[in-house]
Amino acid sequence: MHSLTDIVELYEERFDTHPLLIRACGRINIIGEHTDYNDGFVLPAAVDKYLYFAIGENGTTDTHLYAADIKDSYSFSINQIEPCEKLWANYLMGIMKQMQGLGVPLEGVDCVFGGNLPIGSGLSSSAALECGFALGLKTLFQLEASLVELAQLAQRSSHQFVGIPCGIMDQFASLLGRAGQAIKLDCRSLAYEYIPLELGDCELVLLNTKVHHELASSEYPVRVRECREGVATVRKHYPEVESLRDVTLEMLDAHRGELPEVIYRRCAFVIRENARLEEAAVCLSEGKMERLGELLLLTHEGLRDEYEVSCPELDFLVGFAKDFDGVLGARLMGGGFGGCTINLVRKEAKEKFLKEVTKAYFRQFGIHSEYYFVRPVDGTMVVRDEEGYGNG
Ligand code: GLA
Repeated sequence: MHSLTDIVELYEERFDTHPLLIRACGRINIIGEHTDYNDGFVLPAAVDKYLYFAIGENGTTDTHLYAADIKDSYSFSINQIEPCEKLWANYLMGIMKQMQGLGVPLEGVDCVFGGNLPIGSGLSSSAALECGFALGLKTLFQLEASLVELAQLAQRSSHQFVGIPCGIMDQFASLLGRAGQAIKLDCRSLAYEYIPLELGDCELVLLNTKVHHELASSEYPVRVRECREGVATVRKHYPEVESLRDVTLEMLDAHRGELPEVIYRRCAFVIRENARLEEAAVCLSEGKMERLGELLLLTHEGLRDEYEVSCPELDFLVGFAKDFDGVLGARLMGGGFGGCTINLVRKEAKEKFLKEVTKAYFRQFGIHSEYYFVRPVDGTMVVRDEEGYGNG
């Protein structure tokens, strides 16, 4: 856990220059899971869990990175950027490599980062890593790019350098978040609108299972492939179909016999999830919290039974929430196989719920869960510290 001031101090202990300061955001997603790489819709928000970066040019061809939260460092030459065994470093190196590919005249940089964003918990610390560093390099080396282009660059880096075929939701939300708002994003056209995240007498609470199963990284590409397989079969009959976005349940059902059962279930989930998102967006605008809660629960069931990306720890937390008076809905958030659940809770029930769910979870798994209250905030940006540093 580090504050912006801690990061500046750690930077100054190591390096001579005044750094540029960046505050990068984690994200939540209200609904619309595993829809982004299917050209569908998502409803995320940038939240006030941050990674702070202090970053400065050093006039050499070497880059020095220090990850304060895990007390780990890595250095490399910008003339030889290749993946290494440290995943966190790959997220940063991939961004430099993308910028080199665009012809940005990079120099080596010194960089210290850390914050209060839980790692590997479904809040997308990886996108915060990419986006914070990308915004830092863009600012230092005057890259002409919009925030949307920067999100796309970060996503390409995940694909090409880190080897994760992710959608665009996390990077987009981290960079384009806005205070008090969720983003309804069309992942095909990248058209987006802000929807006020006003929840009446309710609040969003995240519960962290504190588990992160290996399957999270191995199964993700499998799901991406399964969806493509479904599309390939349906397209034989409807040549205009490019992605699951273009497929209705009727079309899928008409050709169910040609699809392996598991592929059918994966595709049906994604199609239903897009429909749930449309309804959830209306619920948000009209203040229909109970229905929004039901939709979250339906999404969890789909993720558990049709998409099969849940795990016993997540199912336990959601099951407990579902039966608890004053909790309107809950579901696993993000890729799955661990991390956080997102819970829609009446404010008056919050305290009791958190106390009891924490106790029950410990009794069941012997793990101390954590909870977080989050607020939608403006996305990843350049900031200044108390002494006014931060403009490089
Ligand atoms: C991860 C990926 C996102 C998205 C979610 C699931 O967070 O990075 O692109 O696919 O999983 O919705």
